[in-house]
Amino acid sequence: MPSAVLDAIQQRYACRRFAADRPLSADELSTLLESGRLAPSAFGLEPWRFIVVTDAAERTAIAHACYDQPAASTAAAFIAIVALVAALDPDSDYVRARFEAEARGTDPAPIFEAYRAFCQTGSVAEWACGQCNFAAAHMLLQAAHLGLGSCPVGGFDAAALASALRLAAGETPVLVIALGQCADAAPQRLRKPLT
Ligand SMILES: Cc1cc2nc3c(=O)[nH]c(=O)nc-3n(C[C@H](O)[C@H](O)[C@H](O)COP(=O)(O)O)c2cc1C
Repeated sequence: MPSAVLDAIQQRYACRRFAADRPLSADELSTLLESGRLAPSAFGLEPWRFIVVTDAAERTAIAHACYDQPAASTAAAFIAIVALVAALDPDSDYVRARFEAEARGTDPAPIFEAYRAFCQTGSVAEWACGQCNFAAAHMLLQAAHLGLGSCPVGGFDAAALASALRLAAGETPVLVIALGQCADAAPQRLRKPLT
């Protein structure tokens, strides 16, 4: 059975070197952001912020924060995904606004109650970072569908990256998606067998 989604999954791979002369268009960037925006999140909290970086000097700063890995130093653009950790306090205006939306006109109190109980059970910061990876997966697959190369870059100096992205207190960098036209042929995909 033909499937555009499976095609994109099969075509995506981590590109380690991008061609220098292929900037992303505004349409491509907005399609990628829309794909991330519609990702699922627990409690509907969307605990993320996406930061697009295309400026050459800013890209260099991001690449340095990513230890100058080739995927970062050759990328035409980045989308950095940042977890909104501080905003997830159950008493924050952010959570109130999200739960009022999520309740869709009904009483949001049960959602608040469930979320307060959830917040007692573990690290909300780690949980928020995990949520961000759903948005990342959406964007990576959308990039493949657009014929773009991408590489998820999780190897970075968090303090240097936070500074390069000018993050506010309570925002944690989770992943940098390097984007562009891949300069190399697709490698063989290595995976364990389905069994
Ligand atoms: C969360 C995450 C972080 C990653 N960080 C890096 C990285 O810092 N540098 C890099 O070259 N690749 C990075 N990768 C890419 C993986 O190495 C790659 O996805 C894996 O080897 C499988 O290869 P494929 O994506 O080409 O199928 C990362 C992937 C994920 C999911």
